[in-house]
Amino acid sequence: MATTDPSLSAGRRTAEIKRHGPEAFAAMRKAGRLVAEGLDMILPHVLPGVTTARLDRLMFDFAMDHGAYPATLNYRGYRHSICTSINHVVCHGQPDDKPMREGDIINIDYTVIVDGWHGDSSRMYAVGQLNRKADRLCAITHECLMRGIAAVRPGGTMGDIGHAIQSYAESERCSVVRDFCGHGLGQLFHDAPNILHYGARGEGPRIEPGMLFTIEPMINLGKPQVKVLADGWTAVTRDRSLSAQFEHTVGVTDTGVEIFTLSPAGLDYPIGKP
Ligand code: MF3
Ligand code: CO
Ligand code: CO
Repeated sequence: MATTDPSLSAGRRTAEIKRHGPEAFAAMRKAGRLVAEGLDMILPHVLPGVTTARLDRLMFDFAMDHGAYPATLNYRGYRHSICTSINHVVCHGQPDDKPMREGDIINIDYTVIVDGWHGDSSRMYAVGQLNRKADRLCAITHECLMRGIAAVRPGGTMGDIGHAIQSYAESERCSVVRDFCGHGLGQLFHDAPNILHYGARGEGPRIEPGMLFTIEPMINLGKPQVKVLADGWTAVTRDRSLSAQFEHTVGVTDTGVEIFTLSPAGLDYPIGKP
C-alpha cells in the first residue's frame, strides 16, 4: 500500500467501493486473526451430542474475553454470535438446543468487531466421521474459495472471482448458490460491492488496491435453488441436497491479495485431507 497517498488513509470512495490505507489493513489483520482464533478454538467442541447453542455460547465468551463483539448479535434482529448451518442448510442457520449428530457437516460463520473493524470467516467442520459425499463436497467448496481468492488481483475484475469459483464447482458437478454473495466490509459489516460466486472473466467492477471484501461461496451437491424457512433466517436447499461454505476476509494489495482470516494453527480446512 502506498503510504504517500493521503486519499487512501480515510477510505476514499471509488464508484461506491471504498479503498483503504495501511491503518485499515493493520486493523483488519487484528480482527481477521481473532476470528480465525475463535474458529480454531471451537474445533475440539464440534462433536456428536454437543448443541449448536453450546458452540454459540463458547464463541460469545471468546469474543468477550478478547475485547471484541460478535457482529451478528442483534444484527437486523439476529440473536446469536454465530451462524450454524448443518447439512442441507445453506447459510444463516440459528444455534439451538438440538445435539449435533455423527456424520453431520456444519458451517460455523463467525464475525467479530475489533476496534470498530470487522473480521468475517466461516469453515466447514465434521461431526465425527463423514461419508464420502459430504467429505467430497467440503473439499470442493474449500477449493472454490481458494481459487476465488487466487483470482483477486489489482486490474482484474470481480467477475474473475466468480468465474474461478463457478467453473471449478460445475466441473465437479456441483452448483453455486446465487441468492447470497460475498460483500465489502471494514467499519461496516456489509458494504459495497456484492461479490458474486459465479460470473464471467472480465465482467463486474474493477479490483483495486485497498479494497476489503469477503469471498464465501455456498456450493450444493444438487441444484442451486434455496428457500428461507419461516424463522426468516435459515436458508436451505430446495432439493434438500447437501450444501457447504467457506469464507475468508481479504484485502487487495498493490500486487495481489492478503487473507486476513487465515488460521494461525493451520486449521483453515479442519476436516482432514480428503
Ligand atoms: N457472517 C455472515 C456473512 O458472511 C452474515 C450473517 S448475518 C446474520 O456475511 F445476521 F445472519 F448473522
Ligand atoms: Co460474510
Ligand atoms: Co460470515
